[in-house]
Amino acid sequence: AATLGSAAAAKGKTFAAAVANGHLGESAYATTLDREFTGVTPENEMKWDATEPSRGSFRFTGGDAIVSHAQSHGQKVRGHTLVWHSQLPGWVSGIGSGSDLLAAMRNHINGVAGHYRGKIVYWDVVNEAFNEDGTRRGSVFQQRIGNSYIEEAFRAARAADGSAKLCYNDYNTDNQNAKSNGVYTMVRDFKARGVPIDCVGFQAHLSAGQNLSTLQANLQRFAALGVDVNITELDVGGSGSAQATTYGQVVRACLAVSRCTSITTWGVTDKYSWRSGSTPLLFDGNYAKKPAYTAVLQAFGAA
Ligand code: G3I
Repeated sequence: AATLGSAAAAKGKTFAAAVANGHLGESAYATTLDREFTGVTPENEMKWDATEPSRGSFRFTGGDAIVSHAQSHGQKVRGHTLVWHSQLPGWVSGIGSGSDLLAAMRNHINGVAGHYRGKIVYWDVVNEAFNEDGTRRGSVFQQRIGNSYIEEAFRAARAADGSAKLCYNDYNTDNQNAKSNGVYTMVRDFKARGVPIDCVGFQAHLSAGQNLSTLQANLQRFAALGVDVNITELDVGGSGSAQATTYGQVVRACLAVSRCTSITTWGVTDKYSWRSGSTPLLFDGNYAKKPAYTAVLQAFGAA
């Protein structure tokens, strides 16, 4: 029978899931993951608070376990994420000077991307740096270092791992809107000036029935800048046929754009979704396939 991974592979795409190391020991979780998905993203294990809880001392236990699991099951790994305002240890926000924070950021990127060098297909180098109106979010990095922190992060990531593709990742950028326009302008500028950016991630935290009328055109305009585009954190609030329809729309939009190389759902099962009280994924709490699962296979032409 077709799986998500085999259906996507027949179209040249990867179908991945966010994975929590703590669940890999649950046999139904691991069985479902390994049967259906051809890629993984560590849900929390490679974030700054997990990898560098105190300045200069790195810890890779959870991330290493996921990479090892992926390697032994032929799954591609997306690194997530090097620079983000959230899940940031207190010592980082406590750094008062821009030059010191830049040094700490470079050292963090060098430590984490260097550790995983050669094992990561795509890195989410910078995550969620824009406001809804397309201006820069006032994170500690933006406030202390200024606009240049994003390109500095990409340059440091390239130096640490010359083989990973380097991505900018954000939410509410799926359609063409003020926020995605802001990201687009940045990526166009980076490409024009030779800042090393290779891909853009569209998180796609969605709701059933949401208007996605400009999703495909949006993916296409980024691809036309010369970057890969990825659906990186897909989940769809809701249930039943409305949820299934929205999942199908996302898959068809990605299929229509040759540089849309992967779709990642933000979890394997509703049981462990970060959207508590919601059922946004493709497998229910008992690991049964939902209507949305079938809609994804159908969109790939495999059911
Ligand atoms: O690890 C601690 C544990 O020691 C403690 O006992 C427990 C008590 O609450 O918390 C645990 O940390 C939690 C962590 O997940 C690991 O389970 C945090 O409280 C919790 O806030 C954290 O949530 C994560 C969230 O990012 C944080 O912002 C979610 O799992 C994760 O799915 C979510 O993922 C983000 C992406 O990285 C970026 N895009 C949005 C997406 C959804 O919010």
